[in-house]
Amino acid sequence: NSLKAAFEGEFTIGAALNGRQAMGQDADAIPVITQHFNSLTAENIMKWGPIHPEPDKYNFEPADALVALSEQHGMELIGHTLVWHNQTPDWVFENGKGKPASKAQLLQRMEGHIRTVAGRYKGKVHGWDVVNEALNDDGTLRQSKWLTIAGEEFLEKAYRLANEVDPEAELYYNDYNMWKPAKRDGAIRLVRNLQEKGIRVDGIGMQGHWGLENPSIAQIEESIIAFSKLGKVMITELDIDVLPNPSNRNGADIDATFEFDEQYNVYTNGLPDSVQQKLAQRYADIFALFRKHSDKISRVTFWGVSDANSWLNDWPIKGRTSYPLLFDRNYQPKPALEAVLQPVNKQ
Ligand code: G3I
Repeated sequence: NSLKAAFEGEFTIGAALNGRQAMGQDADAIPVITQHFNSLTAENIMKWGPIHPEPDKYNFEPADALVALSEQHGMELIGHTLVWHNQTPDWVFENGKGKPASKAQLLQRMEGHIRTVAGRYKGKVHGWDVVNEALNDDGTLRQSKWLTIAGEEFLEKAYRLANEVDPEAELYYNDYNMWKPAKRDGAIRLVRNLQEKGIRVDGIGMQGHWGLENPSIAQIEESIIAFSKLGKVMITELDIDVLPNPSNRNGADIDATFEFDEQYNVYTNGLPDSVQQKLAQRYADIFALFRKHSDKISRVTFWGVSDANSWLNDWPIKGRTSYPLLFDRNYQPKPALEAVLQPVNKQ
């Protein structure tokens, strides 16, 4: 039984791989990856910083390995990401004399980057997250260096170039908190503006960094339906944080019957069964929704393979122990995996 078989004909099931996994250095991960997934995303290794750390220096080795892995197993490969404000080296935004780059300089660098990276993987990448996280939660454009230096034009230019360089690859806009109404509207405006100019944007990625309670199924559903009017919809970075976010905590998520370390924000004796069950139920509810809209959703990608790999071990507090995925730290299936597979078993 596997995730990819369970959702065959509905949507592909993806995982973001880290560099070690891409390079085949995480032996325990490989069987889980090949059994359950038919889509792979580069968690970090295709981002500007890792792949293009200096003006004339590219580090293609890990990304090349990921391409080879995806080809070897006949999986689709998702490129993440060409233009982002994060994990982009400072030199990109500077003029080399300690001052900000000019608009022309920045756009030229972006062009060189897209031509080189998307060009290298032309015909190998199924789709690119061309621009990532260009919006604030209120739907306005993020005041990133891309925007403040190059103006809105950077968006248009990025998609035009990606289309020119790899006309067969799907081109996506990807962002988080896309269930929030204001951000949803902002994303629709952003993508529609581009499409109305004749620029190709094939789909929208809703990152799924969600919690046990929020967002509600109805909020997620509204965005899936709204985005589907513009193109493909993908859930691109799914993980469910079972720990409370200290910046936004009201204690609602904490199971008070178990010892909880306030300082390090972890369950001292491991994840209580009750929370494990809540996680399973949450995943079941979410996948029931995805299945209901499988005519709109083309892919669901988990942000990591096992709990050991998750970025949520380092955020919002570094070094905490988080449990957001379907496989535990030893790559063993969690009750949440069974919950996601359940409706299929029953048929
Ligand atoms: O590669 C270096 C390594 O050389 C160094 O020794 C080590 C020391 O800390 O850092 C390593 O880089 C880290 C990298 O992950 C790889 O592990 C960075 O510090 C760390 O910031 C980076 O975090 C990534 C984060 O994006 C950066 O913003 C996470 O792994 C990655 O999961 C996360 O992914 C993002 C998506 O791309 C976009 N949406 C949100 C999502 C979660 O933040």
